[in-house]
Amino acid sequence: MRKKLVVGNWKMHGNRASNALLLSGLKEAGPWTADVAVCVPFPYITETALALTGTQIAYGSQDCSAHEQGAYTGEVSSAMLADIGCRYAIVGHSERRAYHQESDQLVADKAKAALAHGITPIVCVGETLAEREAGQTEHVVKRQLAAVIHTLTHCIGEIVLAYEPVWAIGTGLTATPEQAQAVHAVLRQQLRAATQKADAMRILYGGSVKADNAALLFAQADIDGGLIGGAALKAADFSAICRAAG
Ligand code: 13P
Repeated sequence: MRKKLVVGNWKMHGNRASNALLLSGLKEAGPWTADVAVCVPFPYITETALALTGTQIAYGSQDCSAHEQGAYTGEVSSAMLADIGCRYAIVGHSERRAYHQESDQLVADKAKAALAHGITPIVCVGETLAEREAGQTEHVVKRQLAAVIHTLTHCIGEIVLAYEPVWAIGTGLTATPEQAQAVHAVLRQQLRAATQKADAMRILYGGSVKADNAALLFAQADIDGGLIGGAALKAADFSAICRAAG
């Protein structure tokens, strides 16, 4: 039985005051049966770490560099993230693939860099609306995952995978539980061909998950939790989603 994981992706939202409010709300709302984490903007990771001391809530970043260290202005290395206690780093979010031209290979290299420092990469895959309508969903997500499998080889079992259909992100459109499960099953099958750990790996669903649709999504056989955007910015909403994963 896989333990569910619910991760809040704050994206580029918040400030010190609003973060403090959100985190104290979460501390009051917990604990939950599921594993819970928040992935926050880089400048706020340390303060988040302090606020979450002694709680079950883990924390992480929304990206990491593929490079180890050096003259890479503006980049943040996995070593630095590990140094400040990050458990997770989201890599390959569709917003980074789209707005920062991140390739499948770069995403795979970032996942490798994270793992090298003991950070669990949450690797995002997902198709655009045009790709779905062209019947390419399976092809796209398998191509994205294949790059990670090829790069990580025997370490692939250590990642968390997240299926986030691009058309469902921030749009209020959610994949139906059946649509999401169908893709999760494809991804699980691809992982099974690569590692004996496939059935222990967590595959999260992301894309307009809310308190009122979370339970049905999380009830699907291959959906092991969620990667939550907008609804992770309010303690009551995020907490209700964490509870739905229990
Ligand atoms: P929303 O929950 O706002 O659709 O965002 C999903 C997401 O991109 C999480 O990484």
